[in-house]
Amino acid sequence: MASKDGQPGSIDSSPTVRSLERALEISRAFIESRADRAVWPTATLEQLRASLGGELPSHPIDPTDVIDALARAAEPGIVTTTGPRYFGFVTGGALPATVAAEWLTAVWDQPASLYVLSPAAAVVEEVAARWLLDLLGLPAGASVGFVTGCHMANFTALAAARHELLRRAGWDVEADGLQGAPRLRVIVGDEVHVSVIGALRLLGIGSKQVVRAAADDQGRMRPDALAAALAAGEGPTIVCAQAGNVNSGAFDPLDAIAELTSRYGAWLHVDGAFGLWAAASRALKTHVREVERADSWATDAHKWLNVPYDSGLVFIRHPEAHRAAMSLSAAYLVRSDNDPREGMDWTPESSRRARGFAVYAALRSLGRSGVEDLVDRCCRLARRFADRLREEPSIQILNDVVLNQVLVRVVPATGDADVATRDALRRIQDERICWLGGSRWHGLDAMRISVSNWSTTEEDIDRSADSILRAVRSRLTRAREEDAGRIAELHLASWRATYTGELSQAFHDSQDAAAWAAEWRGQLADGVMVILAKGADRLDGFAACGPVRGKAPNPVEWEIYNIHVDPARRGGGLGGMLFNAAAELGRQRGARQLVLWVVGTNNPARRFYEARGMQCDGGEQEHVLGHETLHEVRYRMDL
Ligand SMILES: Cc1ncc(COP(=O)(O)O)c(C=O)c1O
Repeated sequence: MASKDGQPGSIDSSPTVRSLERALEISRAFIESRADRAVWPTATLEQLRASLGGELPSHPIDPTDVIDALARAAEPGIVTTTGPRYFGFVTGGALPATVAAEWLTAVWDQPASLYVLSPAAAVVEEVAARWLLDLLGLPAGASVGFVTGCHMANFTALAAARHELLRRAGWDVEADGLQGAPRLRVIVGDEVHVSVIGALRLLGIGSKQVVRAAADDQGRMRPDALAAALAAGEGPTIVCAQAGNVNSGAFDPLDAIAELTSRYGAWLHVDGAFGLWAAASRALKTHVREVERADSWATDAHKWLNVPYDSGLVFIRHPEAHRAAMSLSAAYLVRSDNDPREGMDWTPESSRRARGFAVYAALRSLGRSGVEDLVDRCCRLARRFADRLREEPSIQILNDVVLNQVLVRVVPATGDADVATRDALRRIQDERICWLGGSRWHGLDAMRISVSNWSTTEEDIDRSADSILRAVRSRLTRAREEDAGRIAELHLASWRATYTGELSQAFHDSQDAAAWAAEWRGQLADGVMVILAKGADRLDGFAACGPVRGKAPNPVEWEIYNIHVDPARRGGGLGGMLFNAAAELGRQRGARQLVLWVVGTNNPARRFYEARGMQCDGGEQEHVLGHETLHEVRYRMDL
């Protein structure tokens, strides 16, 4: 009888193998579905909690059953970040060789802390480190750390910088700490990535202590601002430059910055989470001119190199500073003869996964030309994306598309562009053909596109651009209808809810507003909903009532009417019908007051309702309901 994994004395490997076989079947189905499955999942938070939750099992469960159940419960909540139309954040797609290498890494379960724990992991890191320095054009003698991501790469590099600058000032920060140490100056560009600030915070340098040098319209640090900041102070100084702004993809002018920092004897750190990979492309390396003059560099493998999470890389020109900042010793942490790589000398963690295997697999499977092609292809596709979106006059591309990032804003002829942009983004996310995230750029709402996946094709870009254009244009159509004052049409076309009674606030406060709206969506295609409240003071329970269905009266004394309207009468008459119906129903049901919330994508209704004796008594408010942003104005009339 096969014994179970994890039980003392088990030498039977078949449970592991059976679980892996099952995982392979599940993986095969997932991988094959990637190009077409919804990019963002449909399961709700509650559904996932229900399907994955429950009590801790009281007894062991067969590993294959665990894998089966896990996959079944988790998959409805899996974002297809590895698919070709995921453009969120800056996300790579896990190259084939890297996924298999990760699997082996787990099977081997090698900590890469010390040579004695895994000679293979140590040598693979050594080799991958050499290849990386070569590929990125960095000094061959630089030391390399395999960390969780660029955030930790920034941390590691800045810890080395802190060590080295304070050492030069006669201070041993590892022994004596930061209190009482010579003051370190840190200058960053105004568009610094937040992870640099986070890393500095961990190192004892507060966010308010950092000097920010102004950036230009693309987010590039301005050399004149850096020169002024350098001249304005003195003492040991770190300058943090950036290769690849997370929004615009823009590069700080590294050559000018390197010149200035060397003049002041400052430590130059380059945060190049994805932008550093431009150095691997003959067409793009001009963006990182003289990057090799820096003292330290941080990047990610899980972004543009398409290695699975988590995988970041740090490179430091001064290996002794790097080692001094990271290395720990204890009697049992035995170093090996022959000076092999000891992984824990170069990272903040002692125990860690042998991340080098997947990085090695990526580099080996792509080769120099493959990395260059991956980087160039993503940039080409980003430009294609921007060109397709420019077809729509109301779309603005906010950045110069110099790399793989595109910043998109919707600017309708009338109305609020921030609202229009957020509204379009929600529609795009809801359609699930592709996924983009939102951001703010120079005070403006924008959608971020990052093309970073090895498997994305021109067809994927076109399908995604079509989805975005559809989302933007559908909103514009509705906005034009509003502009023409066709309130009723608008209500019909987009399931606007208009309701009476003191329900509105409860509705908006309801945690379940999206589900509520979804419930009603189909039914409102050809009607207008009126919610009528009899006792305005007795409706607190609304949110707890659950989904509302049909017309039946319910215990909290409110009713819902879905008024069907003859399509032939759509047009100017519907607003009046709605108003009359609401008032009449209110009177019949003994309501003291008619309170009408007029909800739409803007506020077109004021003149209409005021002409009928209603007082507007609520300022305009914005609500996010499901994927809609609605403006609401409240009108009140005694019945
Ligand atoms: C410029 C820059 N630096 C650092 C980071 C942090 O990287 P990670 O989240 O992989 O640690 C990012 C992430 O997008 C980035 O764009």
